[in-house]
Amino acid sequence: MSDVYRLNDLDISAKSLPEFTPPPRFGETKFESYKPQDPSQADALQKTQSFLNASPDVQGGRFPWQKKTVLGKGLYLDGGFGVGKTHLLASAYSAYEGSKVYMSFSELVHAIGVLGKEKAQLELGNNRLYCIDEFELDDPGNTLIVKTFLNYVFEQGGFVLTTSNTPPAAQGQGRFNASDFKREIQSIAERFETLKLEGPDYRKREKVAELLSTGDLEHLERTEPASTKVDAHWSELFTLLQSNHPIRYAHLLKQMDALYLRNAEPISNQNDAIRFVHFIDKLYDLKIGFRLSGDIALDDLFDDSYKNSAYAKKHYRCLSRISELLEER
Ligand SMILES: Nc1ncnc2c1ncn2[C@@H]1O[C@H](COP(=O)(O)OP(=O)(O)OP(=O)(O)O)[C@@H](O)[C@H]1O
Ligand SMILES: [Mg+2]
Repeated sequence: MSDVYRLNDLDISAKSLPEFTPPPRFGETKFESYKPQDPSQADALQKTQSFLNASPDVQGGRFPWQKKTVLGKGLYLDGGFGVGKTHLLASAYSAYEGSKVYMSFSELVHAIGVLGKEKAQLELGNNRLYCIDEFELDDPGNTLIVKTFLNYVFEQGGFVLTTSNTPPAAQGQGRFNASDFKREIQSIAERFETLKLEGPDYRKREKVAELLSTGDLEHLERTEPASTKVDAHWSELFTLLQSNHPIRYAHLLKQMDALYLRNAEPISNQNDAIRFVHFIDKLYDLKIGFRLSGDIALDDLFDDSYKNSAYAKKHYRCLSRISELLEER
């Protein structure tokens, strides 16, 4: 027998920092299960593996009076959605035996914000391997915060592996006045070797998944085996998303095994669209069951104007993830 809860039954208060390990969807992901679909993916697989065994650069120290410093390295996996970037990232984390952390870019920014610069460096800045998913400079504040933190990590000889849908030099474009921060963005990009992963969306289905009718959603809600189910109306979810910082979404989602979301409608403003994208990203990573009903086609969830914006890739990626989720049994 499973329990069905409403969103209001859940606790969304802020909690401590996350554990900095891969999320459930990628908890068991290994290099061995990565099957390159394109030569660029075979190259990325090989280079990610050798990155783990690379030595830091050594500067100075040629003469006895010269100070020797080590400098860590970065590898940046850039590419469209579903080409396996996160698969490689989580595999690297799993294969590496030294000190390591795995986090999303937004978790990193949040952690530095909560701890403060010095404490973040002290408590989080001295690992050997950093796996950072979805690198994304979307405002000047996080650009400076992240630049300072990564500089510290590199100076400690740390290695940073990261994924993104945007090449390093194009970070920030369309999001804020990136040209004012060119120097900062450039200085972050400098320590990274960038690999561009090409190839098809591995999740691509024969056809885009369809939304359920209310009757089918209710049937699945009654019969599916998940133990803690949450039933929510579309508008109820958006009220909750609007009144909470996205960093809390994971905490909310960890309290359920499956979400039955009713009456999807086209999302009528870009801020809500971005909140929803964050929410689905977390739900996907946490491997929460997801069922969605509505009278629209999945493709019509986001307004066409957003799909042409600086956030376009996020919206398409979100649709790709929802398609995969809806077909999961
Ligand atoms: N070449 C591959 N071999 C085996 N599995 C793959 C491969 N590429 C992707 N996958 C699987 O497909 C799904 C999507 O891949 P993944 O999340 O790694 O893509 P991504 O490049 O990070 O995309 P996104 O931009 O959506 O974050 C995952 O379940 C992953 O394990
Ligand atoms: Mg990914």
